[in-house]
Parts: sequence; structure tokens; C-alpha cells
Amino acid sequence: MTILKKALYPVGGLGTRFLPATKVMPKEMLPVVDKPLIQYSFEEALAAGCEQHIFITGRNKNVLMNHFDHAFELQRTLDEKEKKHLLEITRDWLPKPGQVAFIRQQEPLGLGHAVWCARNFIKDEAFAVLLADEMLIPDGESSLNRMVKVHEETGGNVVAVYPVPKEKVSSYGIIDPEGEGDVVRIKRMVEKPSPDNAPSNLSIIGRYILTDAIFPYLEKGQRGAGGEIQLTDAMQRMIEDGHTFHAVVCHGQRFDCGSRRGFLEANIGYALQNPELHEPMVEIMERFLKKARKK
Ligand code: UTP
Repeated sequence: MTILKKALYPVGGLGTRFLPATKVMPKEMLPVVDKPLIQYSFEEALAAGCEQHIFITGRNKNVLMNHFDHAFELQRTLDEKEKKHLLEITRDWLPKPGQVAFIRQQEPLGLGHAVWCARNFIKDEAFAVLLADEMLIPDGESSLNRMVKVHEETGGNVVAVYPVPKEKVSSYGIIDPEGEGDVVRIKRMVEKPSPDNAPSNLSIIGRYILTDAIFPYLEKGQRGAGGEIQLTDAMQRMIEDGHTFHAVVCHGQRFDCGSRRGFLEANIGYALQNPELHEPMVEIMERFLKKARKK
């Protein structure tokens, strides 16, 4: 067992479902209310104890790097004008020098390939993988915190799963759990099964704690669904070879911000959670609903 210190953020995807917005802007910089997706993930990892943050980037992602750096002119102006709160939210959360690294994926060959690109920066240790476009508002403790505890107990790999309606299982990677409960051992993972063949309705979502044993599996570069090097395929091969995987069942709200619908839902969900925006948001929704129902 290793103490989890590293968080990996694969942000090298093309984000084609969000074109034209993502033509030059990374999907992970899209804001939910007033914060880019990537910052939510970063804060989640930080709260779970991660101190080193590795971003797997691609071309057009420079703005993302800049977001994790000082913005000197802006900060000086805010300082001079004594805009303390704005300065705080611009600067005070920044990682310390040496706590972030950016690795170029060079070619977007899939999530598995993105993770593999970090192999020389992770040695004999487990690491967290967070997909920024998957947003979670937990009921209580964050999923990643719960996953860290399971990793500390088992020393093995841990993935987050979320129950989906049975008719939707064919859109996800689904696990075959051993028994029932909030933490279950995984017997097998099935990519996009038909509802009749699905071993459960628990879908793998974008939070993983992986041991470095994953790298030799990714090294093979086997292509899976969509011609991409899939992380799920490598994890399944690890299970077949006897590596331990547990699933932590997430509760609360989950938003797939890689899709337009999920992104819109996330904005509503986070606005409703915000004390300043809750009332205006309810008022806006009531007005729109009234209008929509009249049609
Ligand atoms: P997605 O499946 O959402 O792919 O990747 P995408 O390319 O970003 O988006 P669409 O489907 O074209 O709209 C899930 C996560 O994996 C990262 C993405 O950046 C996203 O955070 N990813 C995907 C990589 O880092 N590299 C890749 O080659 C593919």
C-alpha cells in the first residue's frame, strides 16, 4: 500500500461533442457557474490529500496551463483596487511551484493512452485519475475520499461507480460486482453491454485509483472501442490476471459534462447549491417552465 499523493488529469481529448466551443478552447475549461471544470477536479483531489498534479494535455490546451499559473497584470490590478475576494479566487488556490506538471499526449489515442503517457512520472505507487468532465455533488463525503480509504485498506485498485437506469447500461462500462453494498469487489468489467446481458446497473465513472501495475497493460497499446486505447480494457485484463479491483458506489448527483445535457444540468445543479444564486435560479426556472408549459 502506498500513500496516495499523485493525481492525474487526462485532458488531451478533442471534446468533439462541444464543437464549435472546443475548437480552440479545452473542454475542461468550460465553466460550470463560474469555475472551469478542471478546477473542480483539482479541488476534489486536493481535498483527498493529493499534492502532486499531473495533467495530460494536447495541443490547444495552453490556456489550461495558464489557469494554474499567476496572472500578474490581473492580480496587480485587483490588489491595487483592493478587490480582496476577487484576488483570493484568482490566486489563493494556486498550487505551489513544483506541484504541477504537464505532459503532452501528442496524439489523442484514447484515455488509456493518456494515462500511459504518465508512466515515467509514477514509480511504485498508486495514483488517482480524475476525468474533469465527470462532476459529482456527493451526499456527504466525496467519492474520492471514500476511494482513498478503500485503497488504504486493500492496497489495490479502486473505481467509482454510479447506478444508471437499466435501459442506459449500453452507454457505459458496467461492473460485475461480488455481492452487494457500498464497497464491492469487482469480478469483471463489461464495456457497453446490452440491458439483457448486463451483470449490474453500476457504471464506471471518471474517478479511479490505480496501481502502477496498469502500465505494462497499457504499454501493449491494444485498441478497443472506437479504435482507441481504452483504460477499461486494460483494467479488465488486470482483473483476469488476479489484480484486485474494488468499486465504491457513489451517492449524490452526477453530471456527465462531456455531453451538452449533462453540462446544462451541472450548471443548474451547482447554481442551486450556491447560496447567492439559489433563489434567482429557482425564479428563472419557474419563469421558463411556465412559458414552456404554455406552448
Ligand atoms: P471523452 O470520451 O469525453 O473524449 O474522454 P473527448 O475526446 O474529450 O470528448 P468527445 O467524445 O470528442 O466529445 C474522457 C476524458 O479523457 C480525456 C478527455 O480529455 C476527457 O477528460 N482523453 C480522451 C484524453 O486525455 N486523451 C484522449 O486521447 C482521449
